[in-house]
Amino acid sequence: MDDRLTRILTEAKEQIKKAASVSDTEEIRVRVLGKQGQLTEILRSMGKLSHEEKKALGQDANSVKVEIEKLLEEKFEAVKGSALEEQFRTEKIDVTEPGIARTLGVKHPITLTINEISAIFMSMGFSIAEGPEVDTVFNNFDALNAPQNHPSRDMSDTFYITENTLLRTHTSPVQVRTLMNQPLPIKVVVPGRCFRCDTPDATHSPMFHQVEGLLVDEGVTMADLKGTLDCFAKRIFGADVRTKFRPHYFPFTEPSAEVDVSCFKCGGIGCRMCKWSGWIEIMGCGMVHPNVLRAGGIDPEVYSGFAFGVGLERMTMRRYAINDLRLFFENDLRFLGQF
Ligand code: DAH
Repeated sequence: MDDRLTRILTEAKEQIKKAASVSDTEEIRVRVLGKQGQLTEILRSMGKLSHEEKKALGQDANSVKVEIEKLLEEKFEAVKGSALEEQFRTEKIDVTEPGIARTLGVKHPITLTINEISAIFMSMGFSIAEGPEVDTVFNNFDALNAPQNHPSRDMSDTFYITENTLLRTHTSPVQVRTLMNQPLPIKVVVPGRCFRCDTPDATHSPMFHQVEGLLVDEGVTMADLKGTLDCFAKRIFGADVRTKFRPHYFPFTEPSAEVDVSCFKCGGIGCRMCKWSGWIEIMGCGMVHPNVLRAGGIDPEVYSGFAFGVGLERMTMRRYAINDLRLFFENDLRFLGQF
């Protein structure tokens, strides 16, 4: 046999013996049997030889090739198992290791207040109603008995979309929608976003939130209104707060009142929170005006009701001692993450 073939076979045997992995083995296969491999090289150089020499060398080369292939095959089989084991070892997953904690968001403080107020009224049998943020001038003002010259109608106070549509300035238009669309008796609270042309500062925002309340049935009186809102105030501010109903004016209620609660910080003695008055104003309310019932298609001779509206920003600020309303809407996670 040709010296070169002998050498290739001996070397290949030795190398295959030493090969410890699939890639080692593959490397040898390429080096010896590949397109540019040692054995191929020899076969390619046979051109100059005689017929007999070609035949002899060809046969020898072939048997060397077969032998090496067999050895490689065996080696592949042998190292394949260890390659798998190696993979299992390096890619091992420790299922007892603590996972990567996902950072969960928290509820926005205004959402917390909405949820709490909703839960209190739902426990008293109210359900939740909603209305659109863009509403008609009719629903926002006319049907709520607002006189034509009411200052809140002014362009400088209200965001008009067209002559007849606007960004609602309060949640009260949902009263009208509910009166028109829901069967009696009506008992709803309406959380929602409202808009007014205000320059943002520590106590104002052009976008803010309210919860509206509306109850309409036969024989509803001011006593029902006071009892309901007193109960609400005690549930949200603490069982020992007192309430005071101060006469006020709203176009859509008659009589109307503002509700004050005894200061839940000082108990009514007077402190900075209540501006030394002992009382904190929390909401507007009143008995639904007959004109509003009529606008909603309800006979005020048969039915009566009460309504109320709570602003959520100031209430939330007092509950969590937040001193700047703008913090609610700046989306600073250092602030929002505290709730
Ligand atoms: N809509 C009033 C406001 O934005 C709040 C209000 C007062 C709502 C009295 C009512 C109510 O339903 O009866 O200032």
